[in-house]
Amino acid sequence: MEALRSANLTVNQGEIFGIVGYSGAGKSTLLRCINMLERPTTGSVKIKDIEITSLDDTQLQQARRKIGMIFQHFNLLSSSTVFMNVAAPLRLINTPQKEIEKKVFELLKLVGLSEQANAYPAQLSGGQKQRVGIARALANDPEILLCDEATSALDPETTDSILELLKAINRQLKLTIVLVTHEMNVIKKICDRVAVMENGVIIEQGYVIDLFTKPQTQTAKKFISTIIETQLPDKILEIVSKQSTPGLLVKVGFVGDVGAAPLLANLSGQFHVQPNILYGNIIEVKNTICGNLVVNFTGQRDKTLKALRYLEKCGLQAEILLDVKAAEVLLEKNLGERISV
Ligand SMILES: Nc1ncnc2c1ncn2[C@@H]1O[C@H](COP(=O)(O)OP(=O)(O)OP(=O)(O)O)[C@@H](O)[C@H]1O
Ligand SMILES: [Mg+2]
Repeated sequence: MEALRSANLTVNQGEIFGIVGYSGAGKSTLLRCINMLERPTTGSVKIKDIEITSLDDTQLQQARRKIGMIFQHFNLLSSSTVFMNVAAPLRLINTPQKEIEKKVFELLKLVGLSEQANAYPAQLSGGQKQRVGIARALANDPEILLCDEATSALDPETTDSILELLKAINRQLKLTIVLVTHEMNVIKKICDRVAVMENGVIIEQGYVIDLFTKPQTQTAKKFISTIIETQLPDKILEIVSKQSTPGLLVKVGFVGDVGAAPLLANLSGQFHVQPNILYGNIIEVKNTICGNLVVNFTGQRDKTLKALRYLEKCGLQAEILLDVKAAEVLLEKNLGERISV
């Protein structure tokens, strides 16, 4: 059986690339192909201009030093201190003791564990253990860091602190990070680009912001719906179905700093329509704010259409979801939940 099929992926230097998918999708297998813990039967893996797939054992060992890895369950040596855990990769290549000490203390400072050098893993919290894992992965000054579900065993707050640390080392050390996760929150917070996997195949890939605003596959939509509501609640249909004036229910989408709210507010003066925001999702995707607002436009239809064209000219997306006259019918047929917002 094949674990992966035609997985074509290019990760750019310096970016944080996420791989998301359900259990068994092949995420770990794909990640492990990058450092050849898993050897693909066909195809090749290139890092910069070196074809990792055709290296001999010694060359591979050397190449692997430039690829750090961290794991869900940290994989620390329980009978060694924090210091010794971080020092392990350096001792393996016979680094002089003085250099080891300097490097380990530098790394412990970077991950915020200077005080814990002599502690044993059992004395640390999950978050601290992962910090040790990160320090150890950075010991050989890697160019790439692979993270396999590195925050999946941590509570939300600790997850955030580890994600902040990964973001900081990505920036400070210009480290390329490839991370595997099943949590959209992780993708949303720190990734630049993302690949969605299913049954050993990459079914969708691109910028995270595009995934959130224009998901192409059902699986991507399902993942997004784990952190934002993607279907129009019946309650909204109920509200507009009671309305006596004609109107249109419109999805207004925006990405970045376009000032959606003031634009909407100004429409009543300019176009004689009354926009009323009934519902919406606004999220931050790695420092960019994007959102979808469900807006009820009352007033004459041709004026509303003009107003929508104006919004589009200003860089917003405007999609008519529903004529409010139809709301009651939809509500009776229970179709509201099928309207994507
Ligand atoms: N070398 C291999 N050859 C064939 N099949 C494999 C190989 N390695 C793993 N598999 C299978 O491929 C599938 C994907 O496994 P993988 O561990 O990559 O998934 P995953 O997305 O990381 O899942 P999880 O979220 O549970 O960690 C599994 O069904 C696994 O049994
Ligand atoms: Mg896995």
